[in-house]
Amino acid sequence: MIFTPFTLGSAELANRFAMAPMTRSRTDQPGDRPNALMAEYYGQRATAGLIITEGAPISAVGRGYSLTPGIYTQEQIDGWKLVTDEVHRQGGKIFIQLWHVGRRSHESIAGEQPVSASAIKVPDQVYGPLPEGGFGMIETSVPRAMTLEDIQATIADFVQAAKNAVEAGFDGVELHGAHGYLIDQFLRQTSNQRDDQYGGSQENRARFLLEVTQAVAEAIGGDRTAIRLSPFVTEGESRVDPEVVALTLKVVEQLAPLGLAYLHFSENISNCAEVPESFRAQVRKCYPHPIMVAGKYTLESGQAMLASGYADLIAFGQPFITNPDFVRRCREQLPLTPVDYAAHATFYGGGAEGYTDYPTA
Ligand code: FNR
Repeated sequence: MIFTPFTLGSAELANRFAMAPMTRSRTDQPGDRPNALMAEYYGQRATAGLIITEGAPISAVGRGYSLTPGIYTQEQIDGWKLVTDEVHRQGGKIFIQLWHVGRRSHESIAGEQPVSASAIKVPDQVYGPLPEGGFGMIETSVPRAMTLEDIQATIADFVQAAKNAVEAGFDGVELHGAHGYLIDQFLRQTSNQRDDQYGGSQENRARFLLEVTQAVAEAIGGDRTAIRLSPFVTEGESRVDPEVVALTLKVVEQLAPLGLAYLHFSENISNCAEVPESFRAQVRKCYPHPIMVAGKYTLESGQAMLASGYADLIAFGQPFITNPDFVRRCREQLPLTPVDYAAHATFYGGGAEGYTDYPTA
């Protein structure tokens, strides 16, 4: 089943493998511009049914990690065209992940004080400029709470980034609503203590997510819009919000009529709880459209997940870093290049080494 084609909105996917979004920090500076090296990297992996790019900041203040590729300047749009052209030339499909990190940043990266639902900082580190020069992990800044004007401007930034993505040739966009970044910060009580229409009740905490998704879907079409969520992950949080799972189910119900390309659940990374089967069943019941899951899946567990009916697409992350031809290796049962210590060392930053130099089988 994993090798069979799948219709995703207006895109025909060759198979049900997706390459999960993975930050690799290889942009050209200044200006965080995508480049020919990135085009080569994504092109090498175009046999995935769908590629989802690394998180792409939608605005300067939305940046949380140095060297990540933006989608808010003309130079960045032109750089991304190299990527989409190459992936399409290789017969693949590609969505861009639209990212606003909110409070998971530092003023030296965001260019100003980072923003969030509320002015609450958690102990957290991000990849940014070191005082002694070069880049490394630095403690995040205390964020400021967004005003209602900031919220409207940020929704407009998401919409503009989505339009820029279409101009750059992407088949669609995935909103990063997972991993404790801005959209997730609005969802959770632990990071959202607002007393206006964007905080307090579950309905209010879901409002920002739903308004962003609706606005983007209206601008570029629901079938070109997707969203990633991670209710069981507590990345960038100091404690678990007891309501986030219930709230996510309500959100999913409200997303169903938007006709999105897919709904993507990120599971099984760093700080997380196991996803109960009851949650998968509830999601399937209220969301009769394409569902993607990611998180340490193997060919076997991915196929089992598809067979269970709880998901339609499986996203693989690290296997695609070291195996550009991961799909073929699975199909022909060829050995996989493991994600070893050396691979970890080249995850973020650097050049071609550990990036485009992994051979095909
Ligand atoms: C990630 N992941 C990630 N997720 C996301 O939503 N946006 C991103 O930019 C990144 N960046 C990123 C970088 C690197 C180097 C890794 C390894 C991972 C998480 C990723 O999409 C995926 O959910 C996890 O890696 C789990 O899947 P695998 O790798 O176990 O198949």
